[in-house]
Amino acid sequence: MCGIVGYIGTTEARPVLLDGLRRLEYRGYDSAGLAVWDGQKINLAKIKGRVADLAGLLQQQSVKGTVGIAHTRWATHGEPTTANAHPHADCKNNVYVVHNGIVENYKALKDQLIREGHTFHSETDTEILSHLIEKYLTGATTLEQAVSRALKFVKGTYALLAIASSDPEKIVAARLSSPLRIGVSADQVFIASDPSALLNYTSRVVTLTDGELAVITRGNYTITSLEDGGAINREAETIDWNIDEIQKSGFDHFMLKEIFEQPETVINSTRGRLIPAEGRAVLGGLADVEDKLRALKRLTIVACGTASYAGLVGEYMLEEYADLPVEVCVASEFRYRKPSLIPREDAVLVISQSGETADTLAAVREAKAKGVLTLGIVNVIGSTISRETDAGVYNHAGPEISVCSTKVFMSQLTVLALLTLLLGRQRRMSLVTGQRIAAELAALPARMAELLAQADRIKTVAQHCQSAKNFFFCGRKYNYPIALEGALKLKEISYRHAEGLAAGELKHGPLAMVDEHFPVIFICPKDSVYEKNISNIQEVKARRGRVIAIATAGDTDIAAIADDVIYIPKTLEMLTPLLAVVPLQLFAYYIAQSLGVDIDKPRNLAKSVTVE
Ligand code: F6R
Repeated sequence: MCGIVGYIGTTEARPVLLDGLRRLEYRGYDSAGLAVWDGQKINLAKIKGRVADLAGLLQQQSVKGTVGIAHTRWATHGEPTTANAHPHADCKNNVYVVHNGIVENYKALKDQLIREGHTFHSETDTEILSHLIEKYLTGATTLEQAVSRALKFVKGTYALLAIASSDPEKIVAARLSSPLRIGVSADQVFIASDPSALLNYTSRVVTLTDGELAVITRGNYTITSLEDGGAINREAETIDWNIDEIQKSGFDHFMLKEIFEQPETVINSTRGRLIPAEGRAVLGGLADVEDKLRALKRLTIVACGTASYAGLVGEYMLEEYADLPVEVCVASEFRYRKPSLIPREDAVLVISQSGETADTLAAVREAKAKGVLTLGIVNVIGSTISRETDAGVYNHAGPEISVCSTKVFMSQLTVLALLTLLLGRQRRMSLVTGQRIAAELAALPARMAELLAQADRIKTVAQHCQSAKNFFFCGRKYNYPIALEGALKLKEISYRHAEGLAAGELKHGPLAMVDEHFPVIFICPKDSVYEKNISNIQEVKARRGRVIAIATAGDTDIAAIADDVIYIPKTLEMLTPLLAVVPLQLFAYYIAQSLGVDIDKPRNLAKSVTVE
């Protein structure tokens, strides 16, 4: 969603802020702006449009100084307009604020401030914050005192930065349910909503947690509790993400780069965790709760979108190999459905790339309130979900820049396979089975690389379907969730209509739509449901549908029925999703490419969904 960057240091703030905003573009936004203290006053520049438009504006407008804040906005309250873009000022153009999140009681606060004589220039909830801070600056000796007092009246969520001409040599930051990270480097301090904006400058990062206020000065930062003003000591951690990882490295799009990184992703997610000889997995983040895991009677997996499809694959893995009853629920439903959870018998496992998804976080809180163990599979280190869950596993997939998730999905599947080994071996999985799964998992990166070498062939198959407007993706068992994921990828980046189906459901309704203009993609490796899939393919062919089969290398029979076949290397049934999803990601990519859409930043979507 929205992105925040702040800088205080010894060089010009403007290029640092623009660079940070560019690195946050992948999050999705509709306007951009910055405010910089020039030694006498704060200069503001903002615009509806891209960061490049803001950079263009700054060529005509002098914005100099070494203290500044910047923002990319994704509209929630008020249209995407220049007036609604952040930063927002108070009545005296003294205080400037950028904000991610939502002020839920903004209407009441705005009415009150108007009654007190404040004048508003935007429709945003954020502008309330600059006026509230203005109000509480009266009687305060510092900007941080005013921010802290103002926030006592705010209901909702925020990551905010404030600067003021009346107390200029600092940035004040505060956080509640929306991430903020401080980057420390000698006499410069950076702050951003996402580490991608910091890593060009420093890998030493301090994460603010909920209910904290930070005062950032040249080369220093202090953190206090918003509740009682108590000092909080927090050392910087090293984030070892490489800045090169957040560049395109010669690929046309981040999505394509991230698809091709997947063999490496599996290696990174399994590094130090897989012990093939002993047929087991070691997950350090779960070590403290292993006894509780052993006693589990049921696991509920909660996530959104792609992460929920990874959870569905996990359900099949854990039920088959760990004999653990598993249920998967999308987070937006879980939080309102009054789930029945029993402490010590149940656990809730949430899966989230960003670790900030509002619905998924709410599920963690709901589960904790019910007294059950909460676990996380999270990619972003130090994110809210990773901090709030009782225990968890990091994906180690590195930053995923494309809005459309690919390599993180792969890492989620990999971690779920590791979890299956861990829980399976705790329960009834034999050493031999464990060794077989571990060996196949270790062999997967090389198989995936073989598959990626067929990208040109997949591009040709995608070109055959370029003019189709509707698609079905069908699969069974482990590959039913992959059908859902394949359809989601296509919808997301090509804006074509696609539905993922359990292949057995075709004849219960969807088959009525199939004709020669309707491609149906079947994920049908040689597995325990192969024959069932073949029957479904015949049903589609009988209605003149165009069939694209994702099949196991060496399966020549299928070539006689399907119009196109993409072969994936042979592996264990449980691990076929990790291979089968790769051609579907490429298929979606090449269709979107032929349509000329903005693949890394699909319309209407954002990378991290921090509002309900
Ligand atoms: C699709 C996609 C989304 C996310 C979903 C959850 O490509 O990326 O469906 O999977 O918004 O996000 P996280 O994993 O950050 O909780």
